[in-house]
Amino acid sequence: MEIRFRDIQLDRIKTDLLVIPVRDNKLDDPRLRALDRILQGHLRRRIAKSKFTGAEGSALLYGTAGTLPAGQILLIGRGDDETASDGWRKVGARARKEAGAIGAGEFSILFAPDKDPESAAGAIAEGALLASYQFNKYRSNAKSPAEPRYFTLFRSGLKLSAPVRKSVEIAQALIPSVFLARDLVNEPPSVATARFLGATARQHCRGRGLTVEVWNKKKIEAMKLAGLLAVNRGSLEEPRFIKMHYKPSSKPRRRVALIGKGITFDSGGLSLKPSKSMETMKLDMAGGAAVIATMACLPRLGLNIEVTGYVPTTDNLPGHNAQKPGDVIRYLNGKTIEVLNTDAEGRLILADALALAAAEKPDYMINLATLTGACMTALGTQVAGIFSNHQQLADDLLRASQAAGEKLWQLPLVKEYKDLIKSSVADMRNIGGAHGGAITAALILQEFVGNTPWAHLDIAGPAFAETDNPLCPKGGTGFGVRTLIKFLSSL
Ligand code: BES
Ligand code: MN
Ligand code: ZN
Repeated sequence: MEIRFRDIQLDRIKTDLLVIPVRDNKLDDPRLRALDRILQGHLRRRIAKSKFTGAEGSALLYGTAGTLPAGQILLIGRGDDETASDGWRKVGARARKEAGAIGAGEFSILFAPDKDPESAAGAIAEGALLASYQFNKYRSNAKSPAEPRYFTLFRSGLKLSAPVRKSVEIAQALIPSVFLARDLVNEPPSVATARFLGATARQHCRGRGLTVEVWNKKKIEAMKLAGLLAVNRGSLEEPRFIKMHYKPSSKPRRRVALIGKGITFDSGGLSLKPSKSMETMKLDMAGGAAVIATMACLPRLGLNIEVTGYVPTTDNLPGHNAQKPGDVIRYLNGKTIEVLNTDAEGRLILADALALAAAEKPDYMINLATLTGACMTALGTQVAGIFSNHQQLADDLLRASQAAGEKLWQLPLVKEYKDLIKSSVADMRNIGGAHGGAITAALILQEFVGNTPWAHLDIAGPAFAETDNPLCPKGGTGFGVRTLIKFLSSL
């Protein structure tokens, strides 16, 4: 779908679907009144009958019956929060959905935000593009829906500024990466193995300045990635360690490491999960998928930041050689962890990757992981937890996530809780007590980052949508990609 801009009047534009965003209870908007005059009061009467007020999530479709060059008019309520780009994202998504429903070949939206046209345009574009995602690879009866060819943002007197154009271009560069991350999560776990993730990274991480290394088991042994090997012991599938590197052509302003948990299926290992909890455990590589997808996007954006992506990947299964509760892992930085629960495996494989990344002394380290059910209990399914040893980094990520429309909430690294991860035989154990599980997990990760400014995003909740929503059908959401790109662009 091509997104374009036009300077044209409401009553002149020829389009299948004319979309007009309406603020809640702002039906006296001059543009609406002008439109109603052209339609001889019919629109007003139709609105009065429908109880449409412009509340967020509401919409009203109106057939013009030849009175206008536009085929149909769609009023979309965008609530009354004018600052949030979230509202614009939903408007874009709703417009795209309705355009699809009426089989529109193209559709147009009146683009007249009261302020910040730059983020409004980007958010509308993102919404319209995100809403088209489907994963139909394994359906026998799916017909691929007709994709509208054009989406036009218009207004009489519209002058297109460079930042507005740019933000739409970024949305267009970004969305394929969000879809890649969704695809990787949605793919069945016996397809999306560690090898598959490695091959996918190789295939997608191409282009100017971007290189990929995929380490096999031999190399992982040689590099002494003890946590990844320990978790992999219960599996017949070999592990992989994926390392991606983006180097801009001129001297980079910052060096950033991105680390993603790549458990392709989490059965819990010998500390086996109950069946119900296992149903969605193909999602457990969502952090790794987000890192691969973000890396794949970098050549398209041409940012002047050096970025290294690390994804340790394996499944977590209870095969005959599986690690056992009571086993101890010795890491390459000398630290040891007693494994008391093999289902707390994410921290075990992230420890290797964090230590490796920290050794390169980047300016920032950010890891994404579907790490704990406890984080989901605390924040629900829509909000990720963020932990950080560096408040400015946390603030920058919180700001980026807000602009990206991905919800993050900061949780504390409570150092008193380190007592909960004390082990009787090793430096620490891999589980805490009955409470504060998201925090104790983060404290274990922190042991492996040294003094590097670091943030940990626990995305267990928002990585996977339990039900369809306007921006994403049930399944992998690609959570984190948009935030990471916004963050990297802001450096
Ligand atoms: N992958 C899970 C966390 C998870 C749970 C992600 C639900 C998404 C939805 C993780 O490996 C895990 O099993 N964590 C355990 C830790 C516990 C054993 C200390 C958990 O949260 O129960
Ligand atoms: Mn687990
Ligand atoms: Zn897991």
